[in-house]
Amino acid sequence: MVLQRIFRAVIMGPPGSGKGTVSARITKTFGLQHISSGDILRANINAQTELGLLMKSSIDQGQLVPDDVMSRLIMKDLRAMDQSSWLIDGFPRTVSQSEALDNAYSVDTVINLNVPFQTIKQRLTSRWTHLPSGRVYNVDFNPPKVSGFDDVTGEPLVQRDDDTPDTVMRRLKAYQTQTEPVLEYYRSKGVLETFSGTETNKIWPHVEAFLLRKLSPAKQNVA
Ligand code: AP5
Ligand code: MG
Repeated sequence: MVLQRIFRAVIMGPPGSGKGTVSARITKTFGLQHISSGDILRANINAQTELGLLMKSSIDQGQLVPDDVMSRLIMKDLRAMDQSSWLIDGFPRTVSQSEALDNAYSVDTVINLNVPFQTIKQRLTSRWTHLPSGRVYNVDFNPPKVSGFDDVTGEPLVQRDDDTPDTVMRRLKAYQTQTEPVLEYYRSKGVLETFSGTETNKIWPHVEAFLLRKLSPAKQNVA
């Protein structure tokens, strides 16, 4: 779909709720740029940048990285795509981060994936990731064509260091205490749209239909 105006969206949801999976479908269908805070941090760790080395232990322990570090990283990327429509995945994750984003840009829509914690715990231990692109697979749900290798590049897949059962529990806890208040922040602004379910393939048609309505040319002209 060709968008008539700049559209800015955020996707939220607990760890493993399918943000990366749904973002890939949104960006493919609607042509938005995808920015994933987790992918940016993992790229820094992989390239052994100073920042990556500093942040690795927090991430591996399931803790959030400091607000100022994260906000600076994301804002730098957003400034580089000032004239593009975008979808941010994994940011904001605290009320302070949402205020930082709000000071620079107004967000049109926040898509919230509401998936039960029980479902999530099972998923994350069977996830495999292609680190350079952030593409995710799951041995039960969407396996790669060749086991252990990325469909597009043929490069090896890895399991994330923060996908161990103990760390997943800590990430869920951090989500409850630090990120759930962000949902309230966006609900009060009237931009939060929640999609509940246990299967991405069942949630996706609702997200797609919502965005089609929201981005149809008639609506887009009404700015
Ligand atoms: P980040 O990379 O953002 O991780 P997360 O929020 O924990 O989310 P995930 O990427 O684990 O899950 P997802 O919702 O994208 O789900 P996915 O599509 O992969 O952040 C990592 C860390 O970086 C944080 O813990 C923190 O330390 C730091 N960080 C990042 N942003 C930050 C910020 N703003 N501030 C501070 N710190 C920050 O799906 C999950 C799996 O389920 C996949 O295997 C998928 O294939 C599978 N799946 C999907 N649907 C189904 C289904 N229906 N059935 C079975 N499996 C399914
Ligand atoms: Mg992700």
